[in-house]
Amino acid sequence: MIITLNEFIIERQVDFPYAKGELTRLLNHIGIAAKIVNREVNKAGLVDILGIADTNNVHGEQQKKLDVFADEKFINSLKSSAECCGIASEEEQNIVKFKSEMAKNGKYVVAIDPLDGSSNIDVNVSIGTIFAIYRRISQVGHIAEDKDFLQEGTKQVAAGYIIYGSSTMMVYTTGRGVNGFTLDPSIGEFCLSHKNIKIPVSGNIYSINEGNYIKFPKAVKKYIKYCQENDPQTNRPYTSRYIGSLVADFHRNLLKGGIFIYPKTASAKNGKLRLLYECNPMAFIVEQSGGMATDGNGTRIMDLKPKSLHQRSPFFVGSRNMVMKAEEFVENKLG
Ligand code: AHG
Ligand code: MN
Ligand code: MN
Repeated sequence: MIITLNEFIIERQVDFPYAKGELTRLLNHIGIAAKIVNREVNKAGLVDILGIADTNNVHGEQQKKLDVFADEKFINSLKSSAECCGIASEEEQNIVKFKSEMAKNGKYVVAIDPLDGSSNIDVNVSIGTIFAIYRRISQVGHIAEDKDFLQEGTKQVAAGYIIYGSSTMMVYTTGRGVNGFTLDPSIGEFCLSHKNIKIPVSGNIYSINEGNYIKFPKAVKKYIKYCQENDPQTNRPYTSRYIGSLVADFHRNLLKGGIFIYPKTASAKNGKLRLLYECNPMAFIVEQSGGMATDGNGTRIMDLKPKSLHQRSPFFVGSRNMVMKAEEFVENKLG
């Protein structure tokens, strides 16, 4: 029997005895925006060809870069959801406050990376969308405030991602496990395909941009060498896999077992990835699937107190034993 995303979300509402269906509707709106973005992603190559002759599309609008397009679609969809009073987006310097009376009564805010892995768009490699949902702490009935977004990851009520890959999937959690839905293009519905995802406690994949090796901290360099050593008992050497889209790298490791690392480097003391809409949602998902996420310095990602919207954090995420091992190298300068 096919269970669609909408049916599943409604079914799960009973897990939240006091819920009035707001979160349900919000998640549904995210699913709708994802389908619209998916439609554009699928014809990205064609749009470029058409764009060569004339940069205006048939509607007389300028062709937008896909990440701006995705940003607009998610903002519009959330604006009309009536459950969300504002969003923080990678594409917007400040928070976007929804001003309608309806939106001001929304209880939730959303932090979003509308298009993750932008450098892969033009070369037909998997990209994604990442989102985190929080209950606002400012007063309902008023416009959203920065403090609504600067909450620890432990305060997330839901988080998820969409991967536009060989198929399109939405994976999300509301704190009761992780479930994955594959878009069936013939009926235009996300259908439950990966129930209660559990990340293997250990895997044999390590994912890190080794081009930056020379700039990595000593402990990370040593951990990489550890991954490459021969030890059949611990399945080493591990396999190196790095796509350059966090969503795609994370998704593969979630299903197969592995570790993804974006450490601090000599030139970027907080690494590259953004805490609010990249690290925190992935941390919530990985923990809900049995894995682990830290800042590579002994602190759980979801315990970090954000100070600014686009704050970055080093990120170690994946199979529990592998993240613990990598952390040991940092603690003890092992190797
Ligand atoms: P975005 O496209 O949203 O800016 O994110 C890109 C991020 C992330 O997806 C990926 O893991 C990382 O950048 C790759 O960075 P490097 O090219 O430095 O490895
Ligand atoms: Mn990103
Ligand atoms: Mn992005």
